[in-house]
Amino acid sequence: MRYKGNNRISVNNHTISFDDEGPDEAPVIILIHGFPFNKSMWNKQVEVLIENYRVISYDIRGHGKSDAGTEEFSIELFTDDLLGLMDFLNIQKAMLCGLSMGGYIALNAIENFPKRFNGLILCDTTCTADTPETKEKRRVAIENIAEYGIEQYANESIKNLFALETFITSKEKTIIIKEMIMKTSVQTLTATLLALAERKETCSKLAKIKVPVMIIVGNEDKITPPVAARFMHKNIPGSKLHIIEHAAHLSNIENTYEFNEHLLKFVSSFNQKPDKFMKRYLVDSRPFDSDKTSKYEQMEKDLNFKILKTTLTIKSKYPELLKYLEEMPDTISAEKDPKITLTILSSYYESLSSILKKYKSDHQAN
Ligand code: MLT
Repeated sequence: MRYKGNNRISVNNHTISFDDEGPDEAPVIILIHGFPFNKSMWNKQVEVLIENYRVISYDIRGHGKSDAGTEEFSIELFTDDLLGLMDFLNIQKAMLCGLSMGGYIALNAIENFPKRFNGLILCDTTCTADTPETKEKRRVAIENIAEYGIEQYANESIKNLFALETFITSKEKTIIIKEMIMKTSVQTLTATLLALAERKETCSKLAKIKVPVMIIVGNEDKITPPVAARFMHKNIPGSKLHIIEHAAHLSNIENTYEFNEHLLKFVSSFNQKPDKFMKRYLVDSRPFDSDKTSKYEQMEKDLNFKILKTTLTIKSKYPELLKYLEEMPDTISAEKDPKITLTILSSYYESLSSILKKYKSDHQAN
């Protein structure tokens, strides 16, 4: 029997909340979220995968709607939960896609249960264990959560999770993640931080991975930076690596378009009808909320960001120009879906050029 849709079942002495969607006989992909988020962080990937794949996303113990249970958290326990879920659902083999902590679990799972997996997607993650400095940061975070509460922790976290660009162009994404963090209990935050600090390295086992592997990382990821991704790529035979622009640690959310493009290309090798799903993907791939769809529109968005950056640079480096900027008839907004046409662009440049001329003649600047 298939438990299609959203379910809660008892696995490994706790209740696990999961979504199981897509056709019965399709290849299975299991999505494992990062810390301290929940399965909804994969919504935009689930949307594009479910026509051709059986997609399972679940809440890790204590996160989202899954119970914490009573055992001490560890990556090994999280891996047992994953295997328990697969057994319950009668899934013999699956492809794993894990982001950050999800990647630590995926690497642990493939190391210990290699026969149960036929593909691996490692996003913004690393095979290394925590350094003494990182362990110390986690200890301080636990103390701060106890003393100042979760909101302060969430505010500090999102500063590290997202690229500056995301705050400027897609603030709503940062708000959604902040809310996700704030819904996680102090008990889970503490227990998971301890589990992360104690996790073992998996780097020494990378060469043994025998399934297709794709590694994705945001080029501004400060938590698990591109250097960590390059290391895994070098050590996993035949792996593919994609470094995504306009993204930091949450590359699937910050640059959904590019992320989904790589994801779908990679998993298509597991699919019988690549043409069908690629066609649907091109029509339906809406990065997160109501972002734009086509590559052309993504380019417009990139251009918009560059213009915004220029404006911000003027504001921070030449504050005396602010007055002139305010006089500009045309500024390109940082709102969602800004309308950028050639007419708007050229009038923006004209106003920019005229304020700079005005400034130069007022100040006889070079
Ligand atoms: C995550 O996104 O899962 C965390 O950043 C992992 C970590 O803190 O090591």
